[in-house]
Amino acid sequence: VTAAASMPSRRATSVGDLDTPVVLIDVARLQRNLQGMAERVAQAGGGRVRLRPHAKTHKTRQIAMRQLELGAIGLTVAKVGEAEAMVGAGVEDLLIAYPVLGDQKYERILPLLRKARIRIAIDSLDIAEAASAFFAPHGIKLPVLIEIDTGFGRTGVQSPSEALQLADQIDELPGVEVAGVMCFGGQAYQTAEAGEQTEIGRSEGQVSVQVANLLSAHNHKAQSVSVGSTPTAVAAAGVAGVTEVRPGVYAFGDLKQVQLGTVKFEDCALTVLATVVSHPRPERYVVDAGLKTFAGENYGWGTYGRLLDHPDLIVDWAAEEHGVILLPEGSVDPKLRIGDKVRIVPDHACGTVNMHDELIAIDGDAVVDVWPVIGRGRVR
Ligand SMILES: Cc1ncc(COP(=O)(O)O)c(C=O)c1O
Repeated sequence: VTAAASMPSRRATSVGDLDTPVVLIDVARLQRNLQGMAERVAQAGGGRVRLRPHAKTHKTRQIAMRQLELGAIGLTVAKVGEAEAMVGAGVEDLLIAYPVLGDQKYERILPLLRKARIRIAIDSLDIAEAASAFFAPHGIKLPVLIEIDTGFGRTGVQSPSEALQLADQIDELPGVEVAGVMCFGGQAYQTAEAGEQTEIGRSEGQVSVQVANLLSAHNHKAQSVSVGSTPTAVAAAGVAGVTEVRPGVYAFGDLKQVQLGTVKFEDCALTVLATVVSHPRPERYVVDAGLKTFAGENYGWGTYGRLLDHPDLIVDWAAEEHGVILLPEGSVDPKLRIGDKVRIVPDHACGTVNMHDELIAIDGDAVVDVWPVIGRGRVR
């Protein structure tokens, strides 16, 4: 057991007894979300596509294990620190879906390789050379997935021919080897309707499979085709040749996903429990959860979260430790009193988790477990 044992939240047996602010995970909703994605991907992929959920969302052992029990082939992480946390938790297959650069990081990957299959994403010869120079003297060929940019405009090589060129160059290096391709169609987050997400998912899959086929035709071992996120995973899984999909935030859902239509508000599994600490004007409530409790992203729509039991109310603005809820004109005043506790669905679940040491697992109003956020703050 961890240091959390001494925390008051350990002793609370019901949500109402918890000290705030604190993050709650509704276990039944979580399980439904995990199962729903596992089933939809299995169906779309005809059983040949595996889930590789992105663990940056939850950063906890308990949720990782649930995902693996539901058939995930392994997990995705973004950082070596998260990989350390997940290998420590017993995960044996990880994709670090990030251009990992630097001997300090490779040093830390080394011991992980004794316990787990670890692959990294690469989109440049610079990183291929750096990784090779480090791993070759250890007699290791680190498997890499070549990342392709399919329109998000972040990382990734810019064309199939660039991917082939990089694969050819990697072949010349003693300490790395091509194991497949990956992409992340984050442009799906800018869509207004599900049809567009489906299109982006299909194109993520099709472009990646096309590149993998090109590499295979040139004798590269491009076995893994890793694509997809919460809005695109199911559509991408339907593309023949895709081998795995990497949704993350589907585990919890959040307001962004509600806006995208990938989850219903009432299915969101993660809420922040906060206490009303001030009610200085009839139309203003202030809760004890601000920028140090919610992820900072408000996606430009002017909220940090929405009240679970009063969905017309949002956290309109936040200071470090204050969340300010303004009653919209014409709305029904929930008549909260100082000391009342409210549950708030955040804009972005993944960023919110990273602000907390533990997640409180609940079943209805009962506290059933405390899950340490083992990957918290592991940004290196
Ligand atoms: C490389 C990569 N793969 C997968 C995901 C998962 O996306 P989501 O949380 O939307 O499911 C992300 C999210 O940022 C990502 O960056």
